Amino acid sequence: MATILAIETSCDETAAAVVCHRQVLSSVVASQIDLHSRYGGVVPELASREHLLTIGDTVQEALLKSQLTWTDIDAVATTCAPGLVGALLVGMSVGKTLSMVHQKPFLGAHHLEGHIYAAYLEHGDLQPPFLCLLVSGGHTSLIRVDGCGQYTLLGKTRDDAAGEAFDKVARLLELGYPGGPIIDRLAQQGNPTAFQLPEGNISLPGGGYHPYDASFSGLKTAVLRLVERLHADGVDPLPLADIAASFQSAVVRALTKRAVRAAQDQDLPAIVLGGGVAANSSLRHTLSATAADHGISVYVPSLKFCTDNAAMVACAASDHFDQGHRSSLDLGVYSRLPLEQISILY
Ligand code: KG4
Ligand code: ZN
Repeated sequence: MATILAIETSCDETAAAVVCHRQVLSSVVASQIDLHSRYGGVVPELASREHLLTIGDTVQEALLKSQLTWTDIDAVATTCAPGLVGALLVGMSVGKTLSMVHQKPFLGAHHLEGHIYAAYLEHGDLQPPFLCLLVSGGHTSLIRVDGCGQYTLLGKTRDDAAGEAFDKVARLLELGYPGGPIIDRLAQQGNPTAFQLPEGNISLPGGGYHPYDASFSGLKTAVLRLVERLHADGVDPLPLADIAASFQSAVVRALTKRAVRAAQDQDLPAIVLGGGVAANSSLRHTLSATAADHGISVYVPSLKFCTDNAAMVACAASDHFDQGHRSSLDLGVYSRLPLEQISILY
């Protein structure tokens, strides 16, 4: 079984991990949230510079905590798509350099495949095929997973990602950044039925709605209109907890409905939740309960493996390594790369 050292720098977390097959030997994440929060979002250039400052110590700490040495490492894996190009380049340069210096095979890794693989880290019984509901700051996708590298995109957001909607709504409510965890906490004190907000249905030309695609930008605008109306009516202070709970409930209903429907239509026995928004307490609970009513199992990673980390990347790379996949040291980084085209990395 392969032991992989992985590096992840696709957005605002500098992360390194050592994983032996699906066992996490170490996972270190240096978050840049404090750096970006004053700007209300990730500033790409600042992210790249911070990765540069932190990456060396992060990798060293991961190796130290794993209690292994370079002799024990079988390969180096690094996220090369999708993400912020400057940020990805930092991780890639370090990953390739380590692979050359220590003469280890190099594997490029797909960030979203990492999010899918996070569920394997703690659920030894999980087997494909399954449906993955992947919800992060940049993506909202329903993916059929038939095995390592075998992905079919069934549905997606037509505009904002779910995490992006959380972040934008938190910004318009002046709650801070990143919005997801803040809204999650606030919503626990609010009434989710206080305001009716749209679930982001996509109308089809012949009538009816697209079964799996969703739109979250309309929901964000609906929250904006609601806030404007409450201000115009002289409501002060705003019922922030009720707004947060109503918004979160609309997102959770939209995601749960589509995921359960896709799993049923595709005859898949399990749904895997992945990505930063998988940390949302209401989504974890509602999806698990609704799927259970339909006889579908739900696998949810623990919080530390939902948001960006390198253990999930190492876990995916270890399967590719076992399949004999290796990447060229000429491999570039890609700001976008559909999961279905992952084979170009190897
Ligand atoms: O996967 P991730 O760490 O980075 C990307 O690949 O995008 O996801 C970050 C996103 C952010 O939009 C953040 O607001 C959201 O995940 N998030 C949450 C929660 N924790 C993080 N959204 C809703 N509820 C949460 N508890
Ligand atoms: Zn992510």
